[in-house]
Amino acid sequence: MAASPDKTFYLETFGCQMNVHDSEKVIGTLISEGYRQVPTVEEAGLILYNTCSIRDKAEQKVFHRLADYKKLQAQGKKFGVLGCVAQQEGEKIFERAPHVSMVCGSASYRNLPEMLVQIEEGKRTTGLDDRQTDKCFETEFTSRTNPNRGYITIIEGCDKFCAYCVVPFTRGKERSRTSESVLDEARQMADLGYTEIQLLGQNVNSYRDPSENKSFAELLVSLGNVPGIRRVRFTTSHPRDFGRDIVEAIDAVPTLCDHVHLPVQSGSTRVLEAMQRLYTRDQYLERIAWMKAARREISITTDIIVGFPGETEAEFGQTLSLLDGVEFDGVFGFKYSPRPNTPALRLDDAISDEEKARRLSVVNERQREIQKRNNAKFLGRTLEAMVEGKNNSRNQWVGRTSQNKVLNFTAPAGVEPALGSYVSVITRQCFPNSLVGEMVV
Ligand code: SAH
Ligand code: SF4
Ligand code: F3S
Repeated sequence: MAASPDKTFYLETFGCQMNVHDSEKVIGTLISEGYRQVPTVEEAGLILYNTCSIRDKAEQKVFHRLADYKKLQAQGKKFGVLGCVAQQEGEKIFERAPHVSMVCGSASYRNLPEMLVQIEEGKRTTGLDDRQTDKCFETEFTSRTNPNRGYITIIEGCDKFCAYCVVPFTRGKERSRTSESVLDEARQMADLGYTEIQLLGQNVNSYRDPSENKSFAELLVSLGNVPGIRRVRFTTSHPRDFGRDIVEAIDAVPTLCDHVHLPVQSGSTRVLEAMQRLYTRDQYLERIAWMKAARREISITTDIIVGFPGETEAEFGQTLSLLDGVEFDGVFGFKYSPRPNTPALRLDDAISDEEKARRLSVVNERQREIQKRNNAKFLGRTLEAMVEGKNNSRNQWVGRTSQNKVLNFTAPAGVEPALGSYVSVITRQCFPNSLVGEMVV
């Protein structure tokens, strides 16, 4: 459908890669309904926020945005809240921000075309009761922003119910796509020139193929063999469901990237149990040992929560000793944030915010030293980098290695590597969060 001049929308996305990819599908759907995306709130008739509720700060952001732009309602602009805060708060959003006319959770996006008609007619509309659907949001209208690297959802929702986490409430129960549909999407992307795909799911390891019964590892192998695809990444892995067959697949198929993000959350078995993570410290370390024993050098990254209710100094010490033992290539550390609906809300022994902040800075400092040491081993090595951008102020290109490390590099005079191309780079400097090198021609 041709874009009509008066149907314009602005969309801002918060949260994880699933939300970023959902937004690409929402944008595609809106464009197919005759809307045109604009870069500012001021130019837009419809203002949408795709929201995140994982921590309190993320949730507050959307209410701040809504308050900031409330006055624009007088100009006839309409507001919609999508994503995890929409699903969690539902119609309560209309009470808190009466200028909002659409509230839609991620499992209801396929109803967007009808919902758009309703708001255009001046009505309020909600898409909230679809959480238990067994369908994923598959659309032919995905509007990917990067022409070389793209996301593919393989599983939506989560059945794990970790004690601190809102995701099972905001994204509903686990639903996997068929392997045929995933592979079709990958082939279509390869035909369009994409060389890297990133598989998405809250817990990709519990992928259950509704059709052919391919395991997650088998799906990885099939995707890695799609002609034209040079890199396959996947996130997030849950330690409980992370099988040895995934490591074997990475060892066997070079197009599968040698990077695994395996969130541990805590190094203490007592805290892991209170978090309902369903594995012990030793079971986690066993999975790490599988990866360290692989033929390929697999980089491993993780998430840590500090200050879960009742976490003692000694238990926090166990998280630090786990960091020392595993030597992760990257750690995303978070202060525990109490969330609505979650069982951890009922736990006593809250840790003060100051103490959480202290523990987080100890984690970050410790990890910085580890990454400095880990990255030092790349000095003088030649690595393959996909070109992702250019930093003009430094006259450096920005690349990424299969291990998901940022590798900035200079190119010889007169050589302009194309975005999305793969180049060889010899590493000359190593920092905790990036490498710097020279392109080899
Ligand atoms: N599905 C993924 C992660 C989803 S959320 C997994 O299971 O690992 C991403 C990260 O946010 C989590 O790994 C966790 O470290 C963090 N997180 C989730 N809920 C949180 C909370 N209530 N407070 C602080 N951090 C939280
Ligand atoms: Fe949240 Fe746990 Fe599910 Fe991850 S596995 S999304 S942390 S409930
Ligand atoms: Fe946030 Fe929802 Fe993702 S809560 S982290 S946007 S699944």
